[in-house]
Amino acid sequence: MGRFDGKVALITGSGRGIGKAIALRLAAEGADIVVNYFRNREPAEETVAELQALGRRAEIVKANVAEQSDLEQMFGFVGEQFGGLDILVNNAASGYNRPVMEQRVKGWDWTMNINARSALFAAQQAVPLMEARGGGTIINISSIGAHRVLPEYVMVGVSKAALEAVTRYLAVELASKQIVVNAVSAGPVETDALKHFPQFREVIETRLEESATFTPAGRNPTPEDIAGVVAFLCTPDAYMIRGQVLVIDGGFTIRV
Ligand SMILES: NC(=O)c1ccc[n+]([C@@H]2O[C@H](COP(=O)([O-])OP(=O)(O)OC[C@H]3O[C@@H](n4cnc5c(N)ncnc54)[C@H](OP(=O)(O)O)[C@@H]3O)[C@@H](O)[C@H]2O)c1
Repeated sequence: MGRFDGKVALITGSGRGIGKAIALRLAAEGADIVVNYFRNREPAEETVAELQALGRRAEIVKANVAEQSDLEQMFGFVGEQFGGLDILVNNAASGYNRPVMEQRVKGWDWTMNINARSALFAAQQAVPLMEARGGGTIINISSIGAHRVLPEYVMVGVSKAALEAVTRYLAVELASKQIVVNAVSAGPVETDALKHFPQFREVIETRLEESATFTPAGRNPTPEDIAGVVAFLCTPDAYMIRGQVLVIDGGFTIRV
């Protein structure tokens, strides 16, 4: 018996990285999965194969979460194929990584639309599908850059701060529909994303060199660490947690 037997979960950007780990964890505990990707189909197909090897149903949808028509098509597909949705994880993210003085309006729109706007409008689309199941769970994936200043991270940081605010509004306004909404905020996780932040990587590595115990947990979180907390937030044990942002960073940000 898995905690998510009979549940249907859609994880945006789940062809690779943290999204993939979340998909695998929810599937390992019984959920059928909708894998969403935008540009990289091959890893998404591999993820689907791994999910199916776990004995789960897994479907793949190409959609740019920043495009309203793509969102409508993706949630329409979920409705047709599954008749409802229990779990939505807004995980997809992108960023225009530059110092403040090199930012452009285009980068603001790109980053905000993928990382923050998408969560609100994906939730709108998910609500009727969750109502068809008597309720559901929405988890948004944030980052410590929403509250801390990381090199070249201004745009993603601002978008994640907005995402955390969206989380609180959804948590209040969707509560009467039996939809539980929270966010998790990850510290540095070893995925392709870190390749886009060479300066941030340097900061992490220098700090780890300075003190092997800079991160109280003794290591950075893994995609599986994030997936475990997301899974917990999707269970009835987390029912009383609403609109919160759970920081998963091994204590990285609590040191001075
Ligand atoms: N890695 C970290 O250190 C870290 C720390 C804190 C928070 N996070 C957050 O964790 C989440 C996952 O990060 P990650 O490290 O796994 O990132 P990643 O390896 O760069 O993967 C990003 C994922 O998002 C998808 N994506 C990007 N733009 C999209 C769009 N417009 N529509 C749909 N999907 C899109 C990508 O799909 P394609 O492959 O198809 O392009 C990919 O699956 C993000 O929200 C990120 O901000 C990561």
